[in-house]
Amino acid sequence: MRRIAAFGAVTGSPGVTTVVGATSAAWRSDLGRPLVWEADPAGGVLQQVINPGGEAGLVTVAGIARREGLLHGKVMEFAGQLVGGVPVVTAPLHPGQAKAALEELAPQWESARTGPLPWLVDIGRLDPSLPLPHGVWGCADALVLVTRGHRHALLYGALIARRASERGLPTVIAVVGDCPESDREVLRALGAAGVVRLPWDPFTAAVLRGQWTGGLPGRRAPFEGWLTGRPRRPEYPLVTAASALARELERLLGTDGTAPRALLEVGPPALRGGS
Ligand SMILES: Nc1ncnc2c1ncn2[C@@H]1O[C@H](COP(=O)(O)OP(=O)(O)OP(=O)(O)O)[C@@H](O)[C@H]1O
Ligand SMILES: [Mg+2]
Repeated sequence: MRRIAAFGAVTGSPGVTTVVGATSAAWRSDLGRPLVWEADPAGGVLQQVINPGGEAGLVTVAGIARREGLLHGKVMEFAGQLVGGVPVVTAPLHPGQAKAALEELAPQWESARTGPLPWLVDIGRLDPSLPLPHGVWGCADALVLVTRGHRHALLYGALIARRASERGLPTVIAVVGDCPESDREVLRALGAAGVVRLPWDPFTAAVLRGQWTGGLPGRRAPFEGWLTGRPRRPEYPLVTAASALARELERLLGTDGTAPRALLEVGPPALRGGS
């Protein structure tokens, strides 16, 4: 089985790596957390969080995949672990090395075997003029488009959502922070299958990338509630909100036991006039 959700950001809307991590941390399954891939051609920072100076998982996996393909169990051998038990294949910091690894991997995604949980693949900034920036974009089963909520970001997002809909790729819009438009307007303008709102939450964002050094008052372990299945705690608003994104992806990918949902009809992008 192959289930891949690509996560990409529109220009000027950073936050995609954080959203991927939050979504995996929010996933509720006895099987653990979905595997996150830092497959950003611009390079990644998570290796510096997990094992500074160590070889990035993406480079090792790319070397092996040519011979052995992309099999979940094998790939997991080269995954590091973020806070909250999120497994991640990290990208090298250097964009040239990241691009080279992704080029090697590009032909492999199509025949990847992901196991029962989907892979959540951070593909970085999306350029709507490129039909196939790299292999994940070409064969993902769903796209999460991470964007800020202001008009310019949404207009740019509409360009990408249109490219995705042209190839029947169901898209969920993850709007980070304030957004004056209603869900309905965002859905209509971007022609997406769903919209999820995520808060601007510097504390949780810092915890997710291992940069919180101030201790975690009242908690024995980050995301303990998620790990133990106990009721969700309010201390990580971003992860709490990302559970809606996890559910939306489960529906779209058919991993919640239902058949994958059909892509909604897409109208022309039509954001409200004015500001
Ligand atoms: N929802 C959020 N609330 C608060 N801070 C955030 C949020 N999302 C991201 N950040 C912060 O913004 C910065 C960029 O986030 P992140 O690395 O996730 O973006 P990115 O789009 O992956 O960037 P890059 O282009 O470097 O890969 C980080 O310092 C992160 O902690
Ligand atoms: Mg990133």
